Amino acid sequence: MNTTITQIQLFRGRLAFMTGDPDISGKRALSFFPDGILAVKGGFVIEAGSAAELSGRFPADIPVTDFGSKLIIPGLVDAHVHSSQTLIIASYGEKLLEWLQKYAFPEEDRHRDFEYARLSARLFINELLRNGTTTANVFTTVHPHTADLLFEEALSKNMRLIAGKVLMDRNAPDSLLDNPEKSWSDSAGLIRKWHNRARLGYAVMPRFAITSSAAQLGVAARLLRDFEGVWMHTHLSENLPETALVQKLYPDCSGYWNVYEHHGLAGPKSVFAHGVHLDDNEFGRLGASGSSIAVCPSSNLFLGSGLFRFGQAGKHGIKLGIGSDIGAGTSFSVLANLSEAYKIARLGDVSITPKKAFYLATLGGAAALSLDNRIGTFKPGFEADFTVLDPGADPLLQKRTTGAATFSDLFFPVMMMGDNRIIHSTWIMGVPCYKAPTSPAQSAAS
Ligand code: GUN
Ligand code: ZN
Repeated sequence: MNTTITQIQLFRGRLAFMTGDPDISGKRALSFFPDGILAVKGGFVIEAGSAAELSGRFPADIPVTDFGSKLIIPGLVDAHVHSSQTLIIASYGEKLLEWLQKYAFPEEDRHRDFEYARLSARLFINELLRNGTTTANVFTTVHPHTADLLFEEALSKNMRLIAGKVLMDRNAPDSLLDNPEKSWSDSAGLIRKWHNRARLGYAVMPRFAITSSAAQLGVAARLLRDFEGVWMHTHLSENLPETALVQKLYPDCSGYWNVYEHHGLAGPKSVFAHGVHLDDNEFGRLGASGSSIAVCPSSNLFLGSGLFRFGQAGKHGIKLGIGSDIGAGTSFSVLANLSEAYKIARLGDVSITPKKAFYLATLGGAAALSLDNRIGTFKPGFEADFTVLDPGADPLLQKRTTGAATFSDLFFPVMMMGDNRIIHSTWIMGVPCYKAPTSPAQSAAS
C-alpha cells in the first residue's frame, strides 16, 4: 500500500493525547477534547484541539471523518515483542528457560523456511494493527531473512517499526546459532539495507547474556559504535534461575546489569526487556545510562517470572514502555497489558494512574524507544499514527463508561476491560490500515 494522502484530512471524535509525563508535568500533560478534531496533512499532524475552536479554521468543503463518541488516541506502542512467536502464544506449563527450550526455540527454528517466515511476518503485522498498535520494537530470529521479511511487511504498511536479527552463539540448538563473525556481517548488511529506510529502524539484538558469548556482546557493541543511531535491544533480569545462570557465565561481572554495562551496551538507545529482578543499585545505574525498560506484565505473570517493581523504577526516573512480549505474553493488546501492569503495581502498593497508563502506552512508550520526537502524541509536525477506540463495542464496557465525566473516568475501565474487541480502526500516517468488521447486529443497531 504505502500511500500518502496529500490533501488535508479532518477526523472528529473524542480526542485524547499526552504531551508529557504526568509524573513530571502533572495535569498539563494530558490534552482531552470531548468533541475534538485531529487535522492531518501529508500524513503529519497539523492541528489537534477542540472542534468548536478548529472547525472554522478549515475550508467547509474538506470532508470530515466523524467518529462520534469514539476515542481517537495516538497509535499504541509495543516496546518489546517477538514477531516469530505469534503461534506459540499460550503454551502450557513452563518457566522461562524451559519454555525457551520447549516452545520458543523450536518455533524460531521453523522460520528457517522462507515461506513460513513470510507468513509469520504477515500474521504478526496484522495482529499488531488489529490491536491498535502502530509501532513496535521487535525481536525476530537468528535468520537474517526473518528480519528482511518483517521489514518488508512493515514497509508495505509504512509503519514506524524497530527490528533486527537476533544474535545468539551458545546455549541454544545448533541450528539457531550464529558466531561473532557471522553476526557482524549479517547485522551490518541488514543495517545498511534497512536502518532509516522509510520509517524503519535497526536494533542490534543479542538475545540475552545466556545465549551470547563475551565475544558476541563485543560484536554488538562494535555495531553500535560503527553504525550511528542504531538501537540496542535485549532481555535483562527476567527470572531468578536465569539471573543465577548469567552470574555463573560471567563470574567477573558484578551482576546481570553489569554484564551489559561492562560490554558497552547501555545508553539512551538501549531497551532492556523485563528488569523484574534488578536491585536498587542496578535500577540506578540503568537509569543514569539513559537506557529504558520494556515492562512485560502479561508475560511476567504467565511464565511466573516475578512482579516488576514500578515504585522503585519510578524513584529512579527510568523511562518505561509496555511490551506485550508475545509469545510469552498472553495478549498483543497493549490495553490488556496495561490492565496486568496495574494489578502487578497494586501488589507493590502502587496505583498506576489512568493518565500514567495512557502515557506508558503512547508517548512514554515512544520515549522509551527514543521516538518521542516523531510519534506518541498529536503535536503539530508529528506523524499521524492513530487508533480509534470504541468502548461501545463491548456491551458492559459501554454501560460502565456511559456518562464518564473525565478522561480518567473513561480511560480506566477502557484499559482494565478493553482489548482488540474495542479497536474500531488503526491508521498509519492518516491511512486506514485496519478496520474492525461490522457485525450484522451492530449495523442493524447503528
Ligand atoms: N529471554 C531470552 N529470550 C527470551 C524470549 O524469547 N522470551 C522471553 N520472555 N524471554 C527471553
Ligand atoms: Zn522477549
